[in-house]
Amino acid sequence: MSDLQCLLYMSTAARDMAPDELDAMLLRARARNQSMGITGALLHYGGRFVQILEGESASVEQCFQRISADKRHGEITRIHSGPVAAPSFPDWSMRYVVNAGPPDRAVVAFLDELQCRPSPETVRQAIALLGRLAGGSADWQSR
Ligand SMILES: Cc1cc2nc3c(=O)[nH]c(=O)nc-3n(C[C@H](O)[C@H](O)[C@H](O)COP(=O)(O)O)c2cc1C
Repeated sequence: MSDLQCLLYMSTAARDMAPDELDAMLLRARARNQSMGITGALLHYGGRFVQILEGESASVEQCFQRISADKRHGEITRIHSGPVAAPSFPDWSMRYVVNAGPPDRAVVAFLDELQCRPSPETVRQAIALLGRLAGGSADWQSR
């Protein structure tokens, strides 16, 4: 792909989503992302979201505009967007990773830092972290 962009944003959930609503949202989001050539991952922890979208810049921006208008979350903050040589999540149209155990303090502290002081290094670490957590563990479920 010639014009590959990665966008990372953080937001706060407006309310809990019922399991059925979440399933339906993921199904539709994945279908749309696939049709737009978008890949990425969505991390859900402590009432907050971190999402990474990657694809052609026009598609990524369009997707982000749509997501930004969604009333199910707010305080939407674009932490980073910029070109990348290759996608970090080429096999996932939208991996969903949730903190299903007790709050993971180390992860929360890191993500607070990312939100307050984003830098190329913390963004790189965040992408690596999502990749690691997506692998699944006792406290982080992934699908
Ligand atoms: C945290 C969060 C992440 C989302 N991620 C995506 C996404 O990656 N792709 C997408 O198309 N919609 C995503 N959505 C859903 C959109 O905001 C929006 O609801 C949907 O695109 C509306 O289309 P629909 O009426 O066909 O469901 C997300 C919503 C939330 C709350």
